[in-house]
Amino acid sequence: MDKKWWQTGIIYQVYPRSFQDSNGDGVGDLKGILQRLDYLQWLGINALWLSPVYPSPMADFGYDISDYTGIHPLFGDMADFDNLLEAVHKRGMKLLLDLVPNHTSDQHPWFVESRSSRDNPKRDWYIWHDPLPDGGVPNNWLSMFGGNAWEWDHTTQQYYYHAFLREQPDLNWRNPEVQQAMFDVMRFWLKKGVDGFRVDVMWHMIKDAQFRNNPPDPNYEPHMSTYSQLLPVYSTDQPEVHELVHKMRSVMEEIDDERVMIGEIYLPIHQLVTYYGVDNNGAHLPFNFQLLTLPWQALQISTAIDQYEGALPVNGWPNWVLSNHDQHRIASRVGVQQARVAAMLLLTLRGTPTIYYGDEIAMRNVAIPFDEVVDPQGLNMPDKNLSRDPSRTPMQWDNSKNAGFTDGKPWLRLSKISHRANVEMQQQDPYSMLTLHKRLISLRTNEPALDAGSYVPVYADNQMLAYMREAEGADSFLIVLNLTHWPCYFRPPHFSFSGKVEIATIPESEGIYLTDTISLDGDEGLVIRLEK
Ligand code: NOJ
Repeated sequence: MDKKWWQTGIIYQVYPRSFQDSNGDGVGDLKGILQRLDYLQWLGINALWLSPVYPSPMADFGYDISDYTGIHPLFGDMADFDNLLEAVHKRGMKLLLDLVPNHTSDQHPWFVESRSSRDNPKRDWYIWHDPLPDGGVPNNWLSMFGGNAWEWDHTTQQYYYHAFLREQPDLNWRNPEVQQAMFDVMRFWLKKGVDGFRVDVMWHMIKDAQFRNNPPDPNYEPHMSTYSQLLPVYSTDQPEVHELVHKMRSVMEEIDDERVMIGEIYLPIHQLVTYYGVDNNGAHLPFNFQLLTLPWQALQISTAIDQYEGALPVNGWPNWVLSNHDQHRIASRVGVQQARVAAMLLLTLRGTPTIYYGDEIAMRNVAIPFDEVVDPQGLNMPDKNLSRDPSRTPMQWDNSKNAGFTDGKPWLRLSKISHRANVEMQQQDPYSMLTLHKRLISLRTNEPALDAGSYVPVYADNQMLAYMREAEGADSFLIVLNLTHWPCYFRPPHFSFSGKVEIATIPESEGIYLTDTISLDGDEGLVIRLEK
């Protein structure tokens, strides 16, 4: 079956503030991204997803949008955007934007109008609610960024709902005018030629019509975000969301059926897969965050892979993610050595991989001194160490000042080891994480079994997991991954094999022929080309 570009390709997430600054203001921008397209092409990725570049007061670093069809001057202007889009397309690559339909900035003209009076035509574009008889908040819903999710408006004497900051009021998606307005936003970018969207917090978009209280989460522990005290069963993942997602999908298809809609959805597998929609009429790729959220343990991971593979709807295409701008970097979660194994897993599983900028050089979370924290999630819950700044630090390009990211003062401090952990050095080093990425990407791109072949589980225990990738008429691969730091043995339980190690996290193992029992070093992963 012919596969779409977003099925065989690899997506790369650019966090624009931190990728490349071109004008010395310390914040990355569109011209900067343009300068680095050669690198992305060299790496072999197929699509860039840009976190928001729209006008925004930056209360949540661009996820609080005040104009959906503009470009924030920090990042450049519309001409810069058009140039970037053209250059990306010239290279045969795709460009995806972040679409944030759940909430706007409180500075967005829609909200300014909505809050101006109770009879304003845009009043119902947001979620307004009377206080309880005692003046209290309408229900117990919590904000993801700490505290309750209702903000009192003195002028109009009602509360409005905000799932995130009070500066990010939630839109009322039950209102058809809101739907149409957002569909028009999508059309604006699709007509420009944008290849798709990553849709922010898709599972939040519609809330319980009765505004019932959320129940306590029995598994809450004090170190967790205050948001985790309750199970958000009434404030998220409502049955009506699927109708909305389907409508968005229809907008995606108005021009052609080459555009992709990715949904940001943090839900257990069985809820997640419902976002593919009936007969795949929903999101093309509901983001699968299992590798982000599960403990790094071989059995847990291999079971999750099987659960996911087993739960996917017919013709639903899988996808995998190791890190993003909201989570710890993979090299910090599992260690730099084990991150190599993680990269091998990401790039050999069945389904579209998304790489977070800098993970390909094993960037780690950077310690940000307390008085330099800027992320609202960190600032609002200072005792919980939840700031996302450490995983959003500037890209490490070379060993010059500020690692080649900016001539000015970077908006977030850089890693103190950037002079010895950067793209330029790793490009020269056959043992580097970057070289490993480039080779895995190239193998995946050139081997039918790896880019779109089937997934066959082979074995898993407390230390390791093994699986095969197969495609008719093409070479098959056996992938064996040691997810611990100490050695282990692998012996396939039901068959014998022989093959050559094509890529290894420890390159000294490459080229070796293996049969039957394999002994793996700690942090060792092997991609074995099987003999026919
Ligand atoms: C999810 C985004 O990934 C995150 O960065 C943001 O803070 C929230 N949505 C709110 O928009």
